[in-house]
Amino acid sequence: MKISSAEFIKAAVDQRGWPKEGIPQVAFVGRSNVGKSSLINNLVQRRGLVKTSGTPGKTREINFFLINKLFYFVDLPGFGFARVPDKMQDNWAGMIEDYLSGCPDLKLVAFLIDIRHEPGKIDLIMHQWLTQNQVTAIYVVTKADKIAKGARQKHLSVIAKAFGISPNSLLMYSSETGEGKGPLWDFIQAAVS
Ligand code: GTP
Ligand code: MG
Repeated sequence: MKISSAEFIKAAVDQRGWPKEGIPQVAFVGRSNVGKSSLINNLVQRRGLVKTSGTPGKTREINFFLINKLFYFVDLPGFGFARVPDKMQDNWAGMIEDYLSGCPDLKLVAFLIDIRHEPGKIDLIMHQWLTQNQVTAIYVVTKADKIAKGARQKHLSVIAKAFGISPNSLLMYSSETGEGKGPLWDFIQAAVS
């Protein structure tokens, strides 16, 4: 995919702030620190478009980026960040769920899972929610570069088993090396066109 433009449009905490022009949207969800913002930067080849951080909880609002003036990438705040007080966790969950269930222009959800870890409770809740709500989703296993090639399949199996899905339905990605970029773009293009 050739990127001719990628621009930050706005940040929102609730539906009053969502873009409403009927332009398709692709959202990125997952635990804090899983690599959502890095993946967006890598996909659009703009290193500084989205702020990333080694400290979980960097993205705190729903951020909308207009790509090629054709579709939005939506960077959601990470869930399950332990150092956020409970009340704020609830607000975050509400903000994310409202968006995922209420935005009419949402075409695809990329659900990110760290290759190094077995999915936790919060990942399983998200999986269940996506399934129950029949959301079109692609499961992206991030930070592939952190695991040696020979050990990756084992990690994919563990993740797939936890979700009760086939390892073949997981898409491996590395924002460091760009591995997985072609297949993910294919998915995105199909969803927004
Ligand atoms: P929140 O905004 O807190 O929800 O986090 P996030 O999911 O947006 O994660 P972010 O992109 O900020 O990345 C978190 C950390 O992981 C940063 O230090 C990134 O450099 C690192 N990281 C992200 N993706 C990769 C990857 O593919 N490989 C490696 N090695 N590091 C990565
Ligand atoms: Mg982020």
